[in-house]
Amino acid sequence: MALTRKRKFYEWFNLMAITWIFMTELLLLTAYCLKDLKIFVPEAVINGNAATLSCQYDLEQAALYSVRWYFQGEEFYRFVPKESPPTFEFPVSGIHVDLTKSDGTQVTLRAVNRMLSGNYQCEVSEDAPLFHTELRTAHMQVIELPQTEPVMSVNKKMIGLNDEFKAECSVAESFPPANITWIINGRRVYKSRHQRISYETYSASSTISTLEMDPHSQVLQGLFHAIPKYTSTLTLLCEVSILHVYHKTATQRILLSMSPPTTNSPNLLESKRNGDPDALTSSTNRTHLIYSGSSSILIILFVSLYKMIAL
Ligand SMILES: *[C@@H]1O[C@H](CO)[C@@H](O)[C@H](O)[C@H]1NC(C)=O
Ligand SMILES: *[C@@H]1O[C@H](CO)[C@@H](O)[C@H](O)[C@H]1NC(C)=O
Repeated sequence: MALTRKRKFYEWFNLMAITWIFMTELLLLTAYCLKDLKIFVPEAVINGNAATLSCQYDLEQAALYSVRWYFQGEEFYRFVPKESPPTFEFPVSGIHVDLTKSDGTQVTLRAVNRMLSGNYQCEVSEDAPLFHTELRTAHMQVIELPQTEPVMSVNKKMIGLNDEFKAECSVAESFPPANITWIINGRRVYKSRHQRISYETYSASSTISTLEMDPHSQVLQGLFHAIPKYTSTLTLLCEVSILHVYHKTATQRILLSMSPPTTNSPNLLESKRNGDPDALTSSTNRTHLIYSGSSSILIILFVSLYKMIAL
């Protein structure tokens, strides 16, 4: 009776021991497996350049079964170390894998074009017995750069107190369309009721942004308040960018003029602007124009007055 009980205990003990060993083995197996899978895909690549995408992982003691790469869900490359050769390319429209520069941790694409902008995935699978598989995704943007420099045009080179001001900045076609920002004396100009900024993209031609400021514009008001004498200049910049790959600017220096209509400021007479004194003949029209607030006409007026005095 005591003997059978002792045997039963040993049987139970053995069973427990085997279970314990099996469990720890299993735990160890799961512990030593695919870890820290990371994907590295360039955020932006210029059209026509090669792109190298990589996938890093730690298999610890497990063996690698395969690494697969997908573009928009379609497999285009596979690496299986047990096969000879271990690299495979699958036909996916637009993708040309450079097999000489591809292995188990990276894949190189030859001459990428804009159609290859999208999501890339790397899938790593462990070998038997567990076949652990992990997947990571990243986005790549292929960029077509503008073929010409950005250009800025302005409606006037000198802004008076009551002037409307308009500038236009354009940049040739790009993919994706460029971002345009406006900067005055180092500070970004934001949209408001008195500072209108529009932005338009014409496919297959260009991207254009216009900045329109009326006399109540915060930026102009601020600058006019800060003017020490009667004139000052502002630096207007149009900054064109495409992700972190392309940054160009177009610049214009604009004269700011307080030009008070009641004083004959010598500063105004130094202005390089060419007035046509013949345009003003009638005194009634002259007085009317003084109040019209247009600085260019004011200059013409002062130039003619100056000429009259000089004579
Ligand atoms: C334009 O700017 C936005 C906002 O900063 C940014 O998300 C986007 O990627 C930019 N586009 C380009 C083409 O640079
Ligand atoms: C004033 O200017 C207008 C054009 O702006 C012209 O038609 C008119 O004849 C001028 N008046 C006088 C008195 O010269």
